[in-house]
Amino acid sequence: MSITTGDFCSKVTAQTLAEKKQRHERITCLTAYDYSSALLVDEAGIDVILVGDSLAQAMLGYETTLPVTMDEMLHHTRAVRRAVKHALLIADMPYASYHLGPQDAVANAARFLKEGGAEAVKLEGGEKRMELIRRMADAEIPVAGHIGLTPQSVHVMGGYKVQGKTLAAVEQLMHDAVALDRAGVICLYLEGIPREVAAMITAEVETPTIGIGAGPECDGQVLVFHDLLSLGSAEPPKFVRSFANIGEAIGQAVRAYRDEVRAGTFPADAESYHLPKGTRAALEAIAGRTRSVGKP
Ligand code: KIV
Repeated sequence: MSITTGDFCSKVTAQTLAEKKQRHERITCLTAYDYSSALLVDEAGIDVILVGDSLAQAMLGYETTLPVTMDEMLHHTRAVRRAVKHALLIADMPYASYHLGPQDAVANAARFLKEGGAEAVKLEGGEKRMELIRRMADAEIPVAGHIGLTPQSVHVMGGYKVQGKTLAAVEQLMHDAVALDRAGVICLYLEGIPREVAAMITAEVETPTIGIGAGPECDGQVLVFHDLLSLGSAEPPKFVRSFANIGEAIGQAVRAYRDEVRAGTFPADAESYHLPKGTRAALEAIAGRTRSVGKP
């Protein structure tokens, strides 16, 4: 394929994100966890698709993101890969896949590129991840950072709480953001921090910031697919805006189907297959002969 074709040009890469930041064009990002939703998100022209470990809760029904495994994340990443043509595909490294030593971490990250077809991985944490990100760069693995409210640290944070509310906490966040920027992250997710802090970080770092619960000054925004569509049952956090109530629409459709099956109105004749006329007539003749056997 020629590098000048339209297809190639419209593919989002890490460089596209950097260019968008320079041009002050906002970056759009959504999570997707399966083939059919990824197809819709990609076709809508979203820049970045994140196979977030939030799939632990949204797809698999776990209470937190902690139990989701490498194999589960890879399974979903492969499904999304089969759908995505345009967006940059980032996969989340699950808890304990990069915490237990650098060799193990790089090997796990490489699986996302090699087996999952991801173009980058995301990991949570600030300055303490710098060395690991450099090792990943040596292994040709692009990395996205994630600081602020980092759900894999839920037990350290004592719950899902907005971070960076004291002066010391703001300084720490700024320090972490600059460290990750220097380590070469392709973008930096900012979750659950005050708008003012996210704005300061966005102005300070070269890498594009992508916010969730971090205000409008970030270079881009991300939402969880299920939150955008009100597909979950849990009360959403303050930062979520529901753009459609698909959960309600699905519930209505399933109840209507249940009622029509019970009433015998689904399927109707128009939704049924028929025998060809000749076969039907022959069958009726055979049935007539069978019925008349033994009758005087
Ligand atoms: O797992 C996820 O969906 C995420 C985003 C919320 C940034 O990490």
